[in-house]
Amino acid sequence: MGQGLDSLGSLRRSHASGEISAELVGREVVVAGWVQRRRDHGGVIFVDLRDRQEVVQVVFRPDANPQAHERAGELRSEYVIAVRGEVQRRSEETINDKLLTGAVEIEATELRVLNHATPPPFAIEEDAEVDESTRLEHRIHDLRRPPLQRSLRLRHRLYQAVRHALSDLDFLEIETPMLTKSTPEGARDFLVPSRLQPGSFYALPQSPQIMKQLLMVSGFDRYFQIARCFRDEDQRADRQLEFTQIDLEMAFVGMEDVMEVLETVTCDGALQAAGVELERPFPRMTFAEAMGRYGCDRPDTRIQLWLEDLTDVFRESGFRAFQSAVEAGGIVKCLPIHDAGDLSRSEIDRLESLVRKELGAKGLAWIRVTADGTWQSPIVKFLSESEKEQIAERTQARVGSLLFFQADRADRANAILSRLRIDLGWKLGRVDGRPWDALFVVEFPLFDRTEDGGLTYMHQPFVAPLEEDIPLLDGEPEKVRGTHYDVILNGVELGSGSLRNHRSDVQRRILELLGYGRDEAQARFGFLLEGLDTGAPPHGGFAFGFDRWCMLLAGVDNLRDVIAFPKTQRGQDLLMAAPSLVASEQLEELSIRPVRRRTED
Ligand code: AMO
Ligand code: AMP
Repeated sequence: MGQGLDSLGSLRRSHASGEISAELVGREVVVAGWVQRRRDHGGVIFVDLRDRQEVVQVVFRPDANPQAHERAGELRSEYVIAVRGEVQRRSEETINDKLLTGAVEIEATELRVLNHATPPPFAIEEDAEVDESTRLEHRIHDLRRPPLQRSLRLRHRLYQAVRHALSDLDFLEIETPMLTKSTPEGARDFLVPSRLQPGSFYALPQSPQIMKQLLMVSGFDRYFQIARCFRDEDQRADRQLEFTQIDLEMAFVGMEDVMEVLETVTCDGALQAAGVELERPFPRMTFAEAMGRYGCDRPDTRIQLWLEDLTDVFRESGFRAFQSAVEAGGIVKCLPIHDAGDLSRSEIDRLESLVRKELGAKGLAWIRVTADGTWQSPIVKFLSESEKEQIAERTQARVGSLLFFQADRADRANAILSRLRIDLGWKLGRVDGRPWDALFVVEFPLFDRTEDGGLTYMHQPFVAPLEEDIPLLDGEPEKVRGTHYDVILNGVELGSGSLRNHRSDVQRRILELLGYGRDEAQARFGFLLEGLDTGAPPHGGFAFGFDRWCMLLAGVDNLRDVIAFPKTQRGQDLLMAAPSLVASEQLEELSIRPVRRRTED
């Protein structure tokens, strides 16, 4: 096609700015990008031109091309330009070590302004000192900043690495529908009204769980998908309403087979996307040990602090607060910190008010062993000699030790001490120095108790029990261990999976224990149960939380920094202003009449 027919004219980009190096000195190049900055120095104009890779300095001198020089004087931040010029070495004193291209510059001979731009709301720089909502509202500018450019590149590399790794392992990439039926993963569904079936709704998938199981029954053997999932749940730094999983499933496998694949994919991905080498094999920890020693099912084992269960010590105690917690079925646990001289009384008070406010703690009892060996503590007066001896022995308390206690329901006591363990572990530098900590957590119970004492599933209703625990389904379901495994990376649940119930009788029994009546089980999962009856092979799989994985490898602490267009804490897309009201006619067409409508703010 003839040049000049489009806005670039004869200015065809020859190099990305990051490629402009000393090797090109004397050569003519064409670069294109955005004006990062313009500086006028007594007739000479310097423009920092930014493209997706780097920034390069362009110099406009009045004598080289007076017209280009004049136009350069009108450039503003974020104008889009193309420049022809010659690469020159910068003089010694003007070399900029901060730029990859800092030893050279382009002496411009031609300039084309491809577009004007409104002034940016904040500087397009490494650190934007602006609040999160401004960044999200102006996401286009935010995305131009180097950290987001870097994390989306990393994300791309991770996609490719995982795709290759799984494809090499003979996995087939298969898409499953977005408009589907509810898949229980413990969150609320996003519903989509059907126009053609008035009054009926599709659910967006919380995960492709059931569909991938059906693919195994259909004989595909090894499936994977980069799957978009939707969960209407409260947003946190590590949760988004829509997110991406690397979802996979395999047939004719046991736990070991799947876990081996997971190790391979996790290691390959980390290495190729971020140059991170993870040690294999990943250590394994049981759920019981994780909860016991770390107070959570996703321990960061780099932190060198551990919890101690002292429930039995307080069963008959005269200290009512603790004894009554145990009597009510709760636990008493302790977080011992040795050589804790740095932790002042006011710091302890601050921690107490934090755990009370944020985690609903009933208090934060503590004991400090002072220099002369006496115990300083608000609770020591309630403790018997024997209790003190047992505490000392079990926690190995010594001069300088500080012990924190929680007496509460197990889940709350564990959550509080686990949080203190992490916060104080980092604050006091009790970490072992390894940058990466990958492990498997296994042997989760199949069931959990609801607040009102009923049985609920720990992960999802399709997890197979360990074969030897199947007889316990009748009589002692709480003791049944599942075939579930989680991959934990640096204290974050990177992903989880399990073997599934391929026998419909076991699956039906589990649904029954979960309180699904026959009819409800049939209505919700009939197609799965009947599918299993058509000849389902033993199968199992896993899903990586892809966004979390990117977040960890990118070294950021919020999913929003690795997602191009994320949602806010309140589930809004501030750039596009979604969700938004729709016209009444549109609702009419979908046979929907809102009970209540949000008024425009
Ligand atoms: P699960 O519900 O544990 O398992 O999800 C798998 C992984 O997905 C990530 N994740 C999330 N990431 C961002 N925002 C969210 N709201 C969110 N929710 C979950 C986590 C999690 O470990 N079908 C099963 C997998 C299987 O058994 O094969 C499932 O979805 O990193
Ligand atoms: P009290 O007798 O309520 O004044 O509590 C004495 C100390 O024990 C205070 O430091 C409280 O913070 C702490 N405490 C009270 N209840 C609990 C509990 N359930 N778990 C941990 N500490 C508690």
